[in-house]
Amino acid sequence: MFEAKIYKDRRATLIRLMKEKGQKGIIVFLGNASAPCQFINNEYKWRQDSTWLYYFGIDEPLYAAVIDLDEGTQTVFADDVALEDIIWTGPTPSVAEVAATSGIDRTDRYCKLDWAVSEAIIKGRPVHAIKPTRYYNRMKAADLGIDAPSEVLSRAIIQMRLIKEDREIELMDKACSLGQQMHVIARKGLRPGRMEQEIVGELEGFAIGRGWGMSFPTILTQHGEIFHNHSHGSAIELGKLIVIDAGLESNEHYASDFTRTYPAGGKFTPRQRDIYSIVYECNETAFAMTSPGVAYRDIHIAVTRIILDRMRTLGLVRGDVDAMVETGVGGLFLPHGLGHNIGLDAHDMEDLCEDWVGYDPDQKRSDLPGLHSLRMARKLVAGNVVTDEPGIYFIPELIGKWKTEGKAKDFVNYDKLEEYFGFGGIRLEDDVLVTREGARHLGNERLPIAPDEVEKAMEEDASGR
Ligand code: GLY
Repeated sequence: MFEAKIYKDRRATLIRLMKEKGQKGIIVFLGNASAPCQFINNEYKWRQDSTWLYYFGIDEPLYAAVIDLDEGTQTVFADDVALEDIIWTGPTPSVAEVAATSGIDRTDRYCKLDWAVSEAIIKGRPVHAIKPTRYYNRMKAADLGIDAPSEVLSRAIIQMRLIKEDREIELMDKACSLGQQMHVIARKGLRPGRMEQEIVGELEGFAIGRGWGMSFPTILTQHGEIFHNHSHGSAIELGKLIVIDAGLESNEHYASDFTRTYPAGGKFTPRQRDIYSIVYECNETAFAMTSPGVAYRDIHIAVTRIILDRMRTLGLVRGDVDAMVETGVGGLFLPHGLGHNIGLDAHDMEDLCEDWVGYDPDQKRSDLPGLHSLRMARKLVAGNVVTDEPGIYFIPELIGKWKTEGKAKDFVNYDKLEEYFGFGGIRLEDDVLVTREGARHLGNERLPIAPDEVEKAMEEDASGR
């Protein structure tokens, strides 16, 4: 947690932004409640809501707050811990003490939140709240009579959180450095015959030992064509590619999110190297283009262009690259976007509304395959932190559907493409800070990424065993 002044200043900025938009009424913030797992006292691992963390920093369950835009008051609602709870949890600071760490001296019991909100509703005052992420808070918001998220509030929060403060960048560098160390441990554990699950255990053990844990469920798979494959029940097989997409969340709750793709056994086959080299070129090109004033949407399109041009050289597509881009052929190979915002969440603020976070007001989400899935399209601004994660995938179901529908049949060489069934997929991801001059990779030491670097690192891993 930062010092109280940071949270007071952030709330003051939010209030100013709301007032500049002519807003009145109250803003309601709901911190998360703890969630029972099998029975009431056996809970899922505690994680606070990220917007709450940003404005209040209080990392305790069942806290809420109301900012009154008209009266200028700020109140924290929570309950002091009763003796019967202290027996289980040990002594905890009072709500007044906890609220003071966030720079707030008005507190009330949690049940009084209902009064504060219903009083505002009865008086016809606007009640602003964001869309709650967790189901408990969705029910709580419904109970309170808050029926829709406030766009003006959500956009003001996004405006602030999209530009990371220096103190946040320092913590993100730390999360990324630890995330990179975690990835090195995973890479060193790769050997034909080992179970995927064993490597996941080593990787996640590091995250729990050095940070809060994982910033999202680990993807470690020899089926890279399945984007979020969380099943880890196979043994590593020589000749396969292993995609490791994993992020460590720091104790301060900042996320990292890296992906590397490795050849089982440490050497790429010629076909794997061909495709890998294209994805690598895309990652490097995207990074080189990342700069204030450039729309991430244009970088996604530039990457698509590279993929299609190189696929044409391999004989998998034919025709004019511009025409293929305009028809959405890139979406056959790269069906997801180039990247997303990252910060307190791996997909930062997407719970507030993906379009509000990832698109400038004058940008419209495309209908084209691939580009449609782009989560971050905005014109970049210094202080943005985004992932750079191009990929190429051979997804039999998708290719089969396009072929059956005769989609892009003038461009796609389906017969040749079918030779790639079983190849899997490749994704290469870094976390990138947009600076005033351009961009820099976050973290201490970039994970090996060029094909030769990867093979060399894996050779050293093997000789160090
Ligand atoms: N790296 C996982 C994701 O972006 O969803």
